[in-house]
Amino acid sequence: MTAVDVGPIGSPDFEPDDAGARAGTPDFEPVAVAAHYDPPPAGIDPDQTKGWMKRLWPLVRAYRRTMLIGVVTGVVALAIQAAVPALGRSAVDAAIEGNRQALWIVFVLTAAFGIGRLVFGGVYRYQLFKLGWNVETDLRAIMYEHLTRLSFSYYDRTQSGEVISRANSDIRSLQLLLAFGPLVSMNVLMFVMALGFMVYVHPWLALVALAPLPGVYWFGLKFRNQVFPLSWVTQARMADLATIVDENVNGTRVVKSFAAEERQIALLGRSAQRIQWTNVEIANSRSRWNPLIESLPRLGTAMVVLYGGWLAIEGVVSIGTLLAFSAYVIMLQVPFRMAGFMLMQGQRASAAAQRIYEILDEVPEIVDSPTAVDIVDPRGQVDFEQVSFGYNPETPVLDEFTLHIEPGERVAIVGSTGSGKSTVARLLDRFYDADGGSVRVDGLDVRDVTLRSLRHTVGLVLDEPFLFSASVHNNIAYGRPDASRADVIAAAEAAQAHGFISELTHGYDSVVGERGYTLSGGQRQRIAIARTLLANPKVLVLDDATSAIDVTVEEAIHNALQELMANRTTIIIAHRLSTISLAERVVVLDQGRVANMGTHAELLATDPHYVEILARHSDDGSDDVSGNGGGPVTSWNGH
Ligand SMILES: Nc1ncnc2c1ncn2[C@@H]1O[C@H](COP(=O)(O)OP(=O)(O)OP(=O)(O)O)[C@@H](O)[C@H]1O
Ligand SMILES: [Mg+2]
Repeated sequence: MTAVDVGPIGSPDFEPDDAGARAGTPDFEPVAVAAHYDPPPAGIDPDQTKGWMKRLWPLVRAYRRTMLIGVVTGVVALAIQAAVPALGRSAVDAAIEGNRQALWIVFVLTAAFGIGRLVFGGVYRYQLFKLGWNVETDLRAIMYEHLTRLSFSYYDRTQSGEVISRANSDIRSLQLLLAFGPLVSMNVLMFVMALGFMVYVHPWLALVALAPLPGVYWFGLKFRNQVFPLSWVTQARMADLATIVDENVNGTRVVKSFAAEERQIALLGRSAQRIQWTNVEIANSRSRWNPLIESLPRLGTAMVVLYGGWLAIEGVVSIGTLLAFSAYVIMLQVPFRMAGFMLMQGQRASAAAQRIYEILDEVPEIVDSPTAVDIVDPRGQVDFEQVSFGYNPETPVLDEFTLHIEPGERVAIVGSTGSGKSTVARLLDRFYDADGGSVRVDGLDVRDVTLRSLRHTVGLVLDEPFLFSASVHNNIAYGRPDASRADVIAAAEAAQAHGFISELTHGYDSVVGERGYTLSGGQRQRIAIARTLLANPKVLVLDDATSAIDVTVEEAIHNALQELMANRTTIIIAHRLSTISLAERVVVLDQGRVANMGTHAELLATDPHYVEILARHSDDGSDDVSGNGGGPVTSWNGH
């Protein structure tokens, strides 16, 4: 028999991807997935000066029972395994001596060992893989939880693909190490036990039998040195490929509209070829080194046959010993090679851990202050007091921006593109913190209130509505998952969305495609408005939220809003005249400051800059609600 617990490097069952199958992933939908799962029992050690394993330890420690059972049963299983050739030796010797009774004893023992090996082997595998998967699940939860807490500024400078790769392959690397690490240490133990037996029985024969092992080590090292860099390259290339596929799928409208399919196919083909090249290279060095590594111990067996056979003829050792030795020679190479694999996996896991910690060590910039209070029963007063802000220090966006909005007021913010209108909205919902001055809701600085209550109070509808690939109902009820169908319909009616939703095949239960692409831009915007309305915020910010909705529907929305939200503060950011004219007060934003303020009519009459901005962004002529003959408001339709 061989001692192969985990196939040797290169054999199909040593593939990392196979770990899932080995862990017994059921091929049915798991029924035990909890609707509300408990948060991970522990976290990563926050001390950044510690090594990666030490930082991971609290997580592993949380499953110390699993690990303990796994290691103890594993040691027993491997001890049994190491004892089997020794038993075989007794059997052969008993047979040669004609000792029937001894033969029976050996038979019973061997059978018992076989059963023991079966039971313990099953238990330790289950426990160790469970450990690996538990830690993986926790790590993923911790990472996702942390990602949700990270601020917008983090996402501004991070590529989503990178985060996804860390959440997948890096966590997988750690899981592999956790599942296999203890196994390898136990195999080393087995190595020591077998070695002990051999040296005890005949040191010289042991030496001869083990002579090829350094060769195994040497070739294994060479093999690893070739494969390790290649596997890194493969991983990087897989990430590249994933990015291309992702962009092709998500950007398919752009690709097709430029008839660039062939170029994209070529790009993908090249990327796939690069992966193929490295994988074939890996296969090449596998097929070159592995047979060598596997054959070397046979040399040991051959030498055992020669030297041991000679010793047996001399009567120094028994035939049984001879057989036991040759079994051990084969058995011993496994831990030897596994240790090598572990070195490689350890390196990989270490790098993976660094990348995961990099995310976990990222300090969220926008968090509740320790003394944060909830906004209770808000009135909807909004104040920007000399607010200065820039996404980076070199380019200030807002410069002592001051604006006071009374509860229930409806204010439009107008400015040329890039003037900082959306930034004002983001500061109000505290996506970023102001560099200077203060942003207040109901007189409370947004930095002194809980984010949760702030974001319940201030509802933002963005110009690019993101919908989830879920039913229309669930999309609208996103902010209030327990909302009744009647509430959802009421919100949809106010957003003038009820009509088209009713016409969908499954009405409110129709599932919108990814990001809502099965709907038109205006339909998406209306669902996004309904979503925010349902959450019933006291302060509603519509950031270009009706840009894709035609003028008459928009008017209907605003009429509905007016009725529904008699005492709701509304901030409308818009380019369109029709939208702006709905506001009681218009604020002109220029160079990060309030350049002018007044009613639409006042500004139109007195502020040439305002007229200019409107002219630049005006829709078609019918949109001219100025009533003073159109003036400089052109019909150029481009923003
Ligand atoms: N996340 C970001 N990181 C860095 N710079 C940004 C970021 N978002 C916006 N900016 C910059 O800040 C400035 C103001 O942007 P903002 O989105 O507030 O403009 P806007 O008035 O809403 O324009 P538009 O009318 O086109 O929506 C722009 O110069 C923009 O390039
Ligand atoms: Mg904007």
